[in-house]
Amino acid sequence: MEPLRAAASRFALARAARDGRVGGFRPKRNKGAIMAVPEKVRRRIEELRRQIDHHNYRYYVLDDPEISDEAYDALVGELRELEARYPELVTPDSPTQRVGAPPSAAFAEVRHRVPMLSLANAFTEDELRAWDRRVRGGLRGQRVEYVCELKIDGVAVNLVYEGGQLVRGATRGDGFRGEDVTANLRTVRSVPLRLRAEAPIPSFVEVRGEVYLSRQAFEAVNRERERQGLSLFANPRNAAAGSLRQLDPAVTASRPLQIFCYGVGHVEGLRLDTHWEALRWMREAGLRTHPASRLCDDLEAVLAFVEEWTHRHRELDYDTDGVVVKVNSFDQQHELGATAASPRWAIAYKFPAQQAVTRVKDIVAYVGRTGAVTPVAILEPVRVSGVTVQHATLHNEDEVRRKDVRIGDFVVVQRAGEVIPEVVRVLAERRTGAERAWQMPKVCPVCGSPIVRPPGQAVARCTGGASCPAQVLERLIHFASRDAMNIEGVGPKLLQQMLDRGLVRDPADLYRLTKDQVLTLERMADRSAQNVLDAIERSKQTTLGRLVYALGIRHVGASTAQALARQFGDIRRLMRASFEEIRDVPGVGPVVARSVRDFFDRRENRGLVERLLRAGVRPESPEAVGTGPLAGKTFVFTGTLDGIPRRQAEEMVRAAGGVVSGSVSAKTDYVVVGTDPGSKAERARKLGVRILDRRAFLDLVGRR
Ligand code: IVH
Repeated sequence: MEPLRAAASRFALARAARDGRVGGFRPKRNKGAIMAVPEKVRRRIEELRRQIDHHNYRYYVLDDPEISDEAYDALVGELRELEARYPELVTPDSPTQRVGAPPSAAFAEVRHRVPMLSLANAFTEDELRAWDRRVRGGLRGQRVEYVCELKIDGVAVNLVYEGGQLVRGATRGDGFRGEDVTANLRTVRSVPLRLRAEAPIPSFVEVRGEVYLSRQAFEAVNRERERQGLSLFANPRNAAAGSLRQLDPAVTASRPLQIFCYGVGHVEGLRLDTHWEALRWMREAGLRTHPASRLCDDLEAVLAFVEEWTHRHRELDYDTDGVVVKVNSFDQQHELGATAASPRWAIAYKFPAQQAVTRVKDIVAYVGRTGAVTPVAILEPVRVSGVTVQHATLHNEDEVRRKDVRIGDFVVVQRAGEVIPEVVRVLAERRTGAERAWQMPKVCPVCGSPIVRPPGQAVARCTGGASCPAQVLERLIHFASRDAMNIEGVGPKLLQQMLDRGLVRDPADLYRLTKDQVLTLERMADRSAQNVLDAIERSKQTTLGRLVYALGIRHVGASTAQALARQFGDIRRLMRASFEEIRDVPGVGPVVARSVRDFFDRRENRGLVERLLRAGVRPESPEAVGTGPLAGKTFVFTGTLDGIPRRQAEEMVRAAGGVVSGSVSAKTDYVVVGTDPGSKAERARKLGVRILDRRAFLDLVGRR
């Protein structure tokens, strides 16, 4: 059962072009010619769609086609022809309508009805046993069944079906809200546009799954990018994420993304009692689930599954990083509940990291965007879990000392969780005496400015700031990157050239580039230059969160940037905000607040923002708070909520559209009372405000 074979052949380009995934089939009605549709045609079209859906299901979900590719093509061809003649009969769920939406400027934010939590990890058998004991303890000795699934290393998505029709698809985002990538998910062949009528169809259902790219497809995508001089994706997961977050669905359609569905969120109009039932329902409804999933009677059966797949997972042509174990019964899941971050009823067992031995050819100091200098080991190329590794991070100076890594050493390297490779240890027994120790340089290898390491800090920094070309380049790369301004096609190589030629010095200069200037760069022809300019132009329409992230403020990652955007709603308000105001944003602490304040205290940074705005960058403020299920409801907290930090509780309220206030008044809707409450609880009682305990609060915000 190798789903890849099917996907690879059915994703042949010719077919992609034929069945509407590329090129965008948009029938146009002949002006004036209104034709009555014969009933016969109407029925034939419906019959063709039913048949094509059925064959897609056999092919993508069951991996067991019933008809030849030619016969399938003939059905699609006939449907296409009829739809061209009778465009009024084209429906959005027709199998010809996978690509249709034009490129968009940015993704809208959508809220998940049931949050998409993450999972706690286990790395050893003992940790799994301990988890099983906690589960059984929590259920006071009830019999517990588990379901084991492979943990696919891709991008989590949420598909919403209403009345059986796919109405929305979104990324996981921060777990509460993600990005609306419906147009892109519609191009994924194994995502059904409508659920199969053979299964009971709920009026509403959230389906959770992982979108991924096979290793073979990942390599093909990278080969193509290399040919075009674009930066390469580091691994299949990044390539899948990048493909899903394409602004032009036709680009997504050209990447053979696949999906495995592994759960349901909010459901209406369908009763499911166990996870195993949910998996079976999904399969019947035409949603692709992983064939290896197994229902286990006890922990011993779970351990056998883990043991089997620890060895077998490398046979698959896509990355998996572990096994997810879930309590089968939904009642039991409910009873166990969740901690603030993850459910108690599931755990992810992580496969051991893969390691390989190679030799350190050199150690170089790499200067990042904030000036941080990181020692990087340049390695003799070696394959680790299917990817060629040529360098590994050594993190910082102390780490080099601690591991005693020297130039010429043989070392063990590993890729853990498919991230940046690292040096695990040195094989000291293979030393010849010719190895050379490494020292942090005193001056920046790029700009010559002093490198300083403040006492008590692990990180050494180049003091060159905006005059260090390495920092400038890294800042530009960060600014243009996918999660920031997402300037498609403008990657490290192009930016390096622009810098070398003096075309840009900071991000705002990108918006002043002319076609003649871009044409002077290597490999640039008229069309590619125009594509670059178009991508830069498109990036002007962005979200405030992306812009804040793109500025590259130290300690401000994408989710912190989003939190700041949500709180301040406007870049100038953020620039003016006091240290205290920034610190009080949920998810932001004093270190981040200090860093943000320092950043905007510098004139050149405020100038950069002003120039970006003047150049036409239009950061859209986030969706106004107050549109979720708790829209307009005011909450006040008092006392501590066992296991949930106050900030997190406040964030849950905001994520559901509510407002948090510091004091109780007649306008307060709910007062959440934890242990050791203050006078607010008393006041709430007096005013007759509704009081919630921890459990009622979690129920209300949908976290149980
Ligand atoms: S269950 C509360 N099942 O792993 C249940 N997740 O760390 C949470 N993932 O965000 C998810 N395969 O991206 C689940 N079979 C599977 C999965 C899976 C991959 C990913 C998913 C999720 C992350 C959780």
